[in-house]
Amino acid sequence: MAELIDGKKISQDLKDEVKAQVSELKEKGVEVALAVILVGNDPASTVYVGNKKKACEYTGIRSESYELPEDTSEKELLDLVERLNNDDKIDGILVQLPLPKHIDEDKVIRSISPDKDVDGFHPESVGRLSIGAKGFVSCTPAGVIELLKRSNTPLDGANAVVVGRSNIVGKPMSMLLLRENATVTVCHSHTKNLKEVCKNADVLVVAIGQPKFIDASYIKEGATVIDVGIHRVDDGSKKLCGDVDFESAEKVAGKITPVPGGVGPMTIAELMNNCLQSALMKLQ
Ligand code: GUN
Repeated sequence: MAELIDGKKISQDLKDEVKAQVSELKEKGVEVALAVILVGNDPASTVYVGNKKKACEYTGIRSESYELPEDTSEKELLDLVERLNNDDKIDGILVQLPLPKHIDEDKVIRSISPDKDVDGFHPESVGRLSIGAKGFVSCTPAGVIELLKRSNTPLDGANAVVVGRSNIVGKPMSMLLLRENATVTVCHSHTKNLKEVCKNADVLVVAIGQPKFIDASYIKEGATVIDVGIHRVDDGSKKLCGDVDFESAEKVAGKITPVPGGVGPMTIAELMNNCLQSALMKLQ
């Protein structure tokens, strides 16, 4: 039976480390601050933003909240981002996605200063990651690397397979694994022999957005399996499941993340860490 990788505990440890460093900075008169922008009142986004603000409170990061009406114009939003870019008291800017349809999301992401891009979505941040330069990394894949490292999963020389090639998870995930000297294969919907490729993985990261897609037959005995997916089980219950069929996979895997309580809690912890790193970079 696989060992569980406890994302709840690891994210708590990371938040506590951030909290301690934020408090040290405070003693030196430096305050870490995140601006959070929410446009409209999408229920899921409202919950996510609420959780981000709570994590700020916990870690001692000041959060500045901008809750704008659905009919906010693109220009108004761009003006706000510009103002925050030039505000020395702000270390990170987070624009919650998705944005209303009349606003060009790509344009807004590009308007955030790469020095405050704590989501790591700006093309400059993505470029820095791909050439191994310093910069912000998208929070979910950064969280996965932390789960792997803190569960003592060897990455150097390991065969790592990433299933999914999204800009937010799959692509940055593959770059981060490469940075750790893994041999990386990225699979997607056009991949031939997906099962055989996955079965060769020492580390299998699954981010395809399809419930319980990967079962034991895709997994090498003893492999480490990271499940980035999260779905509501379609049985009328409030249960959650991932992209991996956990009950089947845990019989073969060496280590595995549960859903919930695996990758999920790491994303916000990494956001807090990015805010701290932004403040520290400013001091250099
Ligand atoms: N919407 C869903 N996930 C995210 C995220 O990680 N960052 C932002 N800005 N919006 C999101």
